[in-house]
Amino acid sequence: MRKKLVVGNWKMHGSRAANAELLAGILGARPFTCDVGVCVPFVYIADAAVSLAASDIRWGSQDVSPHEQGAYTGEVSAKMLRELGCRYAIVGHSERRAFHQESDQLVADKAKTALGHGLTPIVCVGETLEQREAGQTEAVVKRQLSAVIHTLGHCAGEMVVAYEPVWAIGTGRTATPEQAQAVHAVLRAQLQAATSHAETMKILYGGSVKPDNAATLFSQPDIDGGLIGGAALKATDFVAICRAAG
Ligand code: 13P
Repeated sequence: MRKKLVVGNWKMHGSRAANAELLAGILGARPFTCDVGVCVPFVYIADAAVSLAASDIRWGSQDVSPHEQGAYTGEVSAKMLRELGCRYAIVGHSERRAFHQESDQLVADKAKTALGHGLTPIVCVGETLEQREAGQTEAVVKRQLSAVIHTLGHCAGEMVVAYEPVWAIGTGRTATPEQAQAVHAVLRAQLQAATSHAETMKILYGGSVKPDNAATLFSQPDIDGGLIGGAALKATDFVAICRAAG
């Protein structure tokens, strides 16, 4: 039985005051039976580290540089994130693939650098509505995941995968549990072919997860938790989703 994981992706939201209130709300609701994490904007990582250090809630970033160090203005290295105690680094979120033209290979390189510094990459994959309607869902997610599997090699078993259909992100339109499970099963089979750890690897679902749909999504056999956007910004909603993960 895989332990469920629920991670909040705050995206570009928050303020020091709002974050403190949100984290206090989450901390006050402990204990959780699932693993819980928050991926916060870079500038708030140090604050999150202080707030969460004495707890079992983990924190992380929403991106990481593929480079070790050097003249890369504006980038943040895996080593820096690790120094601030990050456990997770989201890589390949569809918003970065779309707005920053991140390629499958760049995402894979970021995942590799993260792992090399002890961060667990949460690798996002997912199809657009156009791709789904053209019957390309499987091919798209397999292509995205395959670049990462190939680049990570024998370490592939250490990543967390997140299936986030682009059409379900921030739209209020969730994949049905059956739609999500079908893609998760495809991803699990792909991991099975590549690593001996596929049965213990976590595959999260993301895209309009809310307190009222979380339990049915999380009850699917290959859905091991969630990557939560909007609902992660309100402590009561995020806590309810963590509870739904059992
Ligand atoms: P929403 O939960 O707001 O749809 O966002 C999902 C997401 O992109 C998490 O990474």
